Amino acid sequence: MINFPLDTVYLESVDSTNSYLKRIIKESGLARGMSVMTKTQTSGRGRLGRSWLSSEGDTLCMSIAVKAPYFEGFTLLAALAVYDALMPFCSDKNLQIKWPNDIICNSKKLSGILCERVNEYTVIGIGINVNDKAFASEISHKATSLFLLNKEKFDIKEIFKGVNKSFEDTFSRYGFSFAKDAKAKYESLCANLGKEVFTQNLNGVAVGIGEDGSLLLKTDGGIIPVSSGEVAVHNIY
Ligand code: BTN
Repeated sequence: MINFPLDTVYLESVDSTNSYLKRIIKESGLARGMSVMTKTQTSGRGRLGRSWLSSEGDTLCMSIAVKAPYFEGFTLLAALAVYDALMPFCSDKNLQIKWPNDIICNSKKLSGILCERVNEYTVIGIGINVNDKAFASEISHKATSLFLLNKEKFDIKEIFKGVNKSFEDTFSRYGFSFAKDAKAKYESLCANLGKEVFTQNLNGVAVGIGEDGSLLLKTDGGIIPVSSGEVAVHNIY
């Protein structure tokens, strides 16, 4: 595959690793895939226009740029790759994916993903709470870290390398598509399924994932696919 092995870049500080890669792509393009991590982000961005808070040196802030055709379900496939990378640290715990692409452990968020399309590239931004010991009050009830789960510190660069390898494995196994096997694996890990889910203007029970990566809700009006926006899950967040 033309993207792998990824070129890797380590930065002390940057506004956002996603914005960093987007600038490079716009200015010169990339000969192959690139992965960048930083110790500090000054303007980390999350999904739905939110900001992403991180602790210097403790949160893994990284982005991977790959030259790939756009496909529906890309962000769900990215969640599978991050899930696989984190599984070795949580094998005895309840690691799951909250649709579309939050990695949660015991119902608290361990990692978030922000995918952005630029020209013919996709930039996959990944934030992982690794050695974080505490969180800002607005997120402390719903966030966790590998440190809090395991009571030990981890080498953040090793986790960065593990995530890169996991993306290589995921794309080589499933290709650039949210194929049948990927969808089945995703469904087996999805915390929403079987639970009552609330969106801005809809509520119902999540019963499956569509071919396009949408969350299928069973409502009084039948099965309705939800393909974007915020979903809250009973007893999660
Ligand atoms: C979310 O859960 O809303 C997505 C969070 C994504 C955060 C990561 S940190 C590295 C990369 N750079 C950013 O500015 N955002 C992503």
